[in-house]
Amino acid sequence: MDILVTRRLTLRPPLEVDAEAITAGLQNPNVTRMLTRVPSPYYEGDALAWIKQNGSRSDAAFFSIYREKFLGAVSIVPAEDGAMDLGYWLDQSAWGQGFMSEAARAVTSHAFRKFGLDEITSGAYEDNRASMAVLIKLGFEPTGDAIHSNPTRGCDVKCNRMVLPRSRFEQIFGSLDSNVAA
Ligand SMILES: CC(C)(COP(=O)(O)OP(=O)(O)OC[C@H]1O[C@@H](n2cnc3c(N)ncnc32)[C@H](O)[C@@H]1OP(=O)(O)O)[C@@H](O)C(=O)NCCC(=O)NCCS
Repeated sequence: MDILVTRRLTLRPPLEVDAEAITAGLQNPNVTRMLTRVPSPYYEGDALAWIKQNGSRSDAAFFSIYREKFLGAVSIVPAEDGAMDLGYWLDQSAWGQGFMSEAARAVTSHAFRKFGLDEITSGAYEDNRASMAVLIKLGFEPTGDAIHSNPTRGCDVKCNRMVLPRSRFEQIFGSLDSNVAA
């Protein structure tokens, strides 16, 4: 089991014990209105199924974020076009403290090394300024737009697509060979 430790956070693959906190976090429309793949309404069975399907996948990186309690999740998963795509969310009670910048940097660094990636893709809805700020701080650059259907809003939303080349990540944060988690 991969475990990442950053200055303030511990990240480990999602376990069944996280289901209740995941459900509470993803029953908040302020969170899910920014997420494309999360069903709405969201039930504990959705969380349990998600954990079962993804908790031990070897072709992807899934992490629960902990600081005394469950705070949220980060993943890097193969997309339909074959790219490895970063996604994340935090319980609203944990917003605005720099936690996602810290967690996403650690998972990105880990995924570059573990999967030998040249680049990682991601994206944020055009009205998601907090997520855009997280991606830009990591070094992501815009590649164009996409339209995503959002279950919570019940409509299509414009998404800014972004890419992070490994070389740019290393320019900002240093060589991955010597770079500890975050
Ligand atoms: C996006 C999200 C993960 C950000 O997590 P976070 O831990 O609060 O983010 P951080 O504190 O690491 O950094 C957020 C940055 O955005 C900035 N920010 C936050 N809210 C903002 C807003 N409304 N407008 C502009 N900037 C904003 C912060 O100032 C910070 O920048 P700084 O470090 O330069 O000060 C969190 O808001 C969330 O879970 N949202 C709902 C789900 C979601 O949007 N997931 C991502 C889908 S692409």
